Amino acid sequence: MSHIFNEKHFKKLDSPERRKILPIDKVIESIQLDENMIVADVGCGIGYFSFPFSQTAKKVYGIDISEVMIEELEKRNKDKLVIPILGDFKEKLSEKVHVFFTSTVIHELPDLKQFTRDAIDKLDVDGRLIYLDFQKKETGFGPSVEKRVASDDVVQLFESLGLKDIENIELNDVFYLVIGKK
Ligand SMILES: C[S@@+](CC[C@H](N)C(=O)[O-])C[C@H]1O[C@@H](n2cnc3c(N)ncnc32)[C@H](O)[C@@H]1O
Repeated sequence: MSHIFNEKHFKKLDSPERRKILPIDKVIESIQLDENMIVADVGCGIGYFSFPFSQTAKKVYGIDISEVMIEELEKRNKDKLVIPILGDFKEKLSEKVHVFFTSTVIHELPDLKQFTRDAIDKLDVDGRLIYLDFQKKETGFGPSVEKRVASDDVVQLFESLGLKDIENIELNDVFYLVIGKK
């Protein structure tokens, strides 16, 4: 069984506590966005990363299967900086991207391998797949340890699907980022 974030708790996704434990600037620095990039933030929630990404990237899609999340993202999207998409990225994302990013999504997925194959299909030449998630250890909050996906397992998955230049970055005591290039 995967652990599904309760969409009614969307406010928790942008609290001062979360900003402390999941520092946006540090993530942006680690993933090296630039102004020519098209980014898909898949499982974007209310846009915790989509909006900051849109300050740098050329185009940012905020994609989520939850209507509640996309409605909330739209309320915050007054300047239309993010392109919201409700539904399955496989069908709805109509162009290739330079960065396919997920934050705290992969532990929710029933079939991570298939999701990853589909994500790679959406990457442009040399595009990068980036998974940010909870380290697989007790951190006092977040999904239970057994639901979490270890960063080493993400690295192995990326290797098995032919991604290259893989980086396994410990963001802090709680979160990691794994980055792989097509
Ligand atoms: C814990 S929230 C994280 C939201 C956001 N990435 C953040 O870090 O603030 C996980 C989100 O992933 C979404 N999600 C789960 N599976 C998904 C899928 N297959 N495609 C798109 N979104 C998905 C959920 O609806 C939820 O909004």
